[in-house]
Amino acid sequence: MARACSLQSEYWLLLRFVWGFAVCDDVDAAFAAIARSIARYEASREMSPFSSKFDLYLAGEVELTDSEKRGLSLFKGEAKCDTCHAIAGAVKGGPALFTDFTFANIGAPRNPENPFYDQPPAINPLGEAYVDLGLGGFLATRPEYAEYAAANEGKHRVPTLRNVDRRPRPSFIKAYGHNGYFKSLEEMVHFYNTRDVLPRCAANDPGEKVTCWPAPEVPRNLDADVGDLGLTLAQEADIVAFLRTLSDR
Ligand code: HEC
Repeated sequence: MARACSLQSEYWLLLRFVWGFAVCDDVDAAFAAIARSIARYEASREMSPFSSKFDLYLAGEVELTDSEKRGLSLFKGEAKCDTCHAIAGAVKGGPALFTDFTFANIGAPRNPENPFYDQPPAINPLGEAYVDLGLGGFLATRPEYAEYAAANEGKHRVPTLRNVDRRPRPSFIKAYGHNGYFKSLEEMVHFYNTRDVLPRCAANDPGEKVTCWPAPEVPRNLDADVGDLGLTLAQEADIVAFLRTLSDR
């Protein structure tokens, strides 16, 4: 009997139609089929239409504003964003993906509001003391990779920046970085520019995110290319304006 597919789901018949009647007989097979279907959908044009203002600009169909253009050239030049969030496509001639698929520790501070801290001990035995070690944390769980764990603590996969400003409504606050510490693109770019320039915040410092930064969640393996970019506030704003051109229509 089909134990893995609930008749209450809207998809069970469709899933069997695509993957064969037996797909629901085994939980692992059903999960694998569901995961592959979702992955295929995520790779489809409906999910990734590459229809942003930036794509139209590359196709010569629209112009960028002066601020957006300045942001683009900073992104590729002085601000060094492109060294990780690569504009050159991973596939030759393919669209810009804004990631080179590497891992780095940009030094994002801990997010005290991360709901993971409040999870029961069965899920988070360390409570408030939990530290997200990123790639290093994963490597440590695999004996064959454990020797690489220390050198990768605090490193997270470089995310794409496509649709980074896209949100359900303008007032919707997005949380950026692996733990959601950053609440706006302005904050993120200011962090890249000043991580190593501004002083450490004191407890409850009113200047947090503006005139001071808390310590990184993982202070090891910090990427030294970012943190002191020497940009003006106007240049930070230009980069944000450019990032806003990456939203699909
Ligand atoms: C050394 C590689 C590197 C460089 C250079 C870099 N980034 Fe990142 N970026 C990352 C990594 C890694 C993350 C994920 C960090 C985390 O989760 O803690 C990230 C996250 C982000 C995010 C949050 C995305 C999200 O969906 O949460 C934004 C926005 C961003 N970077 C913009 C920029 C901009 C703008 C620049 C240039 C000023 C830049 N990055 C330079 C590696 C880099």
